[in-house]
Amino acid sequence: MQHELIIRTRLLEELAVRCAESPAVALLGARQVGKTTLARMFVEGREDVAWFDLETVSGRERLRAMPEKVLASLRGLVVIDEIQRMPELFALLRPLCDRPDVPARFLLLGSASPDLVRGVSESLAGRIQFLPVPGLGLDEVGADQMDRLWIRGGFPPAFLARSAGAAGRWQDGFVQTFLERDIPQLGIRVPAAALRRFWMLAAHYHGQVLNVSELARGLDVAPRTARHYLDILAGAFVLRQLPPWHANLGKRQVKSPKLYLRDSGILHHFLGVAGLEGLLAHPRLGASWEGFALEQVLARLGDREAFFWATQRGAEVDLVVFRGGRPLGFEFKATEAPRLTPSMRVALDDLGLAHLWVLHPGRGDPYPLHDRVTACPLARWTPATAP
Ligand SMILES: Nc1ncnc2c1ncn2[C@@H]1O[C@H](COP(=O)(O)OP(=O)(O)OP(=O)(O)O)[C@@H](O)[C@H]1O
Ligand SMILES: [Mg+2]
Repeated sequence: MQHELIIRTRLLEELAVRCAESPAVALLGARQVGKTTLARMFVEGREDVAWFDLETVSGRERLRAMPEKVLASLRGLVVIDEIQRMPELFALLRPLCDRPDVPARFLLLGSASPDLVRGVSESLAGRIQFLPVPGLGLDEVGADQMDRLWIRGGFPPAFLARSAGAAGRWQDGFVQTFLERDIPQLGIRVPAAALRRFWMLAAHYHGQVLNVSELARGLDVAPRTARHYLDILAGAFVLRQLPPWHANLGKRQVKSPKLYLRDSGILHHFLGVAGLEGLLAHPRLGASWEGFALEQVLARLGDREAFFWATQRGAEVDLVVFRGGRPLGFEFKATEAPRLTPSMRVALDDLGLAHLWVLHPGRGDPYPLHDRVTACPLARWTPATAP
């Protein structure tokens, strides 16, 4: 596919910082999100680069016979793409990362989280920095492209496709390849048709508190199986489980995570949403906006300390992110002119939010709803705006 290249400046800068700090950095993200392209941009112009593509037979052969020796002999920057194809390399890298003179640094690219690939988290704990690669962000494509990014999602081939039809066909192929090739390649044995049905069902529960038994009943599988499917799709970065925050209150709070499809384009694909008009008239408009805006905020703030909060009595905040120990709140409202709600007041007080952002798809300037609440177009929000 021929198209313009979007320069992902923020990720490239972050990658440079991480590589300078740590002997091993892993770029992790969903299939097709742009990891290899990013790494190519990063090494462009450098001469001390050794590149192993484990997707190819020759790439695997180069490391099969004596991987310790080969890796130990390298100098400069060593890129290993598709690391999930040979997870045993992680254990071999460990002593190489401990060498005091740091003769080589390693940049690993993969599309499965360490939890999904056995042995990885243990073998490199503390030695490797993980840098998540999300789909394209609003700051990368420009505010004027927001509707397109929201509808088609952040996979570059879908976002950049010539037509909505072409984007849909790409998504269809992506889902099929993911189920029939990528998951089996991880050594995971699940029927592709069952996993597809689970994924589609998850789309219908997008933005809702997870109820595993209900999902399992819907598919006529055991709850344990449903959980396994959840772990697979989350570990491959296509689903997100947002954990609940338990504040130390006398109130009954929701204790299950919330479920999201991470890419809004794949969500719309499964829901059969066609175009902006279809989306604006769709009953899941609010949930779609919530998931889209949530991913945009988490791409900028990181998702390590990210939660939602809800009480049994109905007060809630879509997202709470701790920054420097202080809780910031986010509400995502698919309306042009959001207002302060009783639920927001409760959250401000109960959680002691430093600030609450109400992010909406409209235009115009941010405006205050309260001394600690600001309504702001998503396209105008940046982490720097946070007080
Ligand atoms: N920044 C970008 N601008 C334009 N197109 C991009 C960009 N990044 C990736 N693409 C396109 O998206 C597709 C997937 O990119 P790439 O191969 O880099 O992803 P990946 O994450 O390495 O995928 P995989 O996990 O399948 O190896 C390619 O067609 C690529 O040209
Ligand atoms: Mg790749």
